[in-house]
Amino acid sequence: MTTDSKSRSPLHFKKRLAVFCSGGGSNFRAIYSGITKKNLPAEIVLCLSNRSQCGAMDFARSAGIEALHLPEKQFATSDAFAEAMTEALQSRKIDFVLLAGYLKKIPAAVVRQFPKRILNIHPALLPKFGGDGMYGHFVHEAVIAAGEHESGATVHFVGAEYDKGEIVLQSRVAVEPADTAETLAAKVLATEHLLYTDALQKILALHA
Ligand code: GRF
Repeated sequence: MTTDSKSRSPLHFKKRLAVFCSGGGSNFRAIYSGITKKNLPAEIVLCLSNRSQCGAMDFARSAGIEALHLPEKQFATSDAFAEAMTEALQSRKIDFVLLAGYLKKIPAAVVRQFPKRILNIHPALLPKFGGDGMYGHFVHEAVIAAGEHESGATVHFVGAEYDKGEIVLQSRVAVEPADTAETLAAKVLATEHLLYTDALQKILALHA
């Protein structure tokens, strides 16, 4: 194959994605299969986690995706951690970062290096039920305690403040009187699995 034909390969146009996770990674798996099903021009080349062993990292290893364990405690300062994260992304020519259950804050310096290139999924209809302490079951408990009739999920860009970046796409589910935080979490998670790929498709279309 000549260099010229290589540069025209469709692979050349695929956006390079990093997925950041801390847990089970069901969104990661859904995005991975969604990219194939929808034939999106993207590939996941990196899974980055603060935990070396978790469902997401296990899945990455089994799928032949690089699994990078990058815990902040390995670094002397938070600036050094931010530099290592930026270097990890830049050296792999990452176009977009997808946060999928990553339970650590992204350093501000990294956010600045990747403006409108970092996405997050949150299990509620932002701007409601977001911010500090609003994660996991706390979100669904708060939704039920507030007597909301609907909830859902939000994919948004990551900005300087928690859960405040521009919204890309939302899904909605009804909150039934019999719902508990557990049943609501399961309904929302099922919509997240479709939503993240749809949001990615929307972003990729803007960058085609
Ligand atoms: C999801 O509910 C997501 O909204 C939140 O963390 C959870 C991750 O679940 N940010 P999983 O690891 O993708 O299964």
